[in-house]
Amino acid sequence: MARKFDSGEGAMTRVKRGKFITLEGGEGAGKSTQIRHILAHLTAVGITALATREPGGTPHAEALREVLLSGRAKNLGPAAEAMLFSAARIDHIENLIEPALRERKWVVCDRFSDSTRAYQGAMGNLDARFMQALEQVTLGALYPDLTIILDIDPRLGLARAAQRRGQGEGADRFEGEALAFHKALREAFRDIAEREPLRCVLIDAAQGEAKVAAQIIKVIDERLFDARLRARAEALIHDSRPAQ
Ligand code: TMP
Repeated sequence: MARKFDSGEGAMTRVKRGKFITLEGGEGAGKSTQIRHILAHLTAVGITALATREPGGTPHAEALREVLLSGRAKNLGPAAEAMLFSAARIDHIENLIEPALRERKWVVCDRFSDSTRAYQGAMGNLDARFMQALEQVTLGALYPDLTIILDIDPRLGLARAAQRRGQGEGADRFEGEALAFHKALREAFRDIAEREPLRCVLIDAAQGEAKVAAQIIKVIDERLFDARLRARAEALIHDSRPAQ
């Protein structure tokens, strides 16, 4: 059997789960840096949270990451690549994300299903029904509670990504695509944010790191925190203000 759909445990058990946050966007948008800020904030208000990434997060999924980012699967075409990313995701969900959420931990994931929608679906011009079916089979009932989409001019993003790489290290399978690819990719992510405003928030990632972090944290507090957590977050801001 593929993925289990909603187990029907109902709303009573659902409220006891952790929250699932995903970060998306083009290359060099600063997702990993922002994830560190998010984790620090969640920990400060007393939430147990873990960071993970896609493709990857579990040993099997990391093995698939190696194949996918080396470009060895490129000649199979975008539909097969989409299925390989999804295979990695299924393992990641079943063995890491779902168990953590059930233990009431919050999970912050660097890329998730929107990357498959944008990189394989939109850029590979794949059939929308195929993409929807693949996503449903892969995710089952698990959709992110919040998706932050970091929006950046690809010229700036690619320059940042190149800087981050070690000297002599080449661009990976997707970084190596032409600028036109990355411009269209940016539009694909913006399109997702526009279509799903309840789940997604688009943030201008060209602003400084601290400004981006402050905006993300505000969105998390407003959208995901209950009154008790919001009060703790307020107290933190108050405590960090210099004394008058
Ligand atoms: P990153 O971890 O450095 O962002 O690298 C992951 C790369 O894999 C990035 O170029 C985006 C790409 N990717 C897809 O094409 N489809 C996917 O579903 C995911 C998760 C990533």
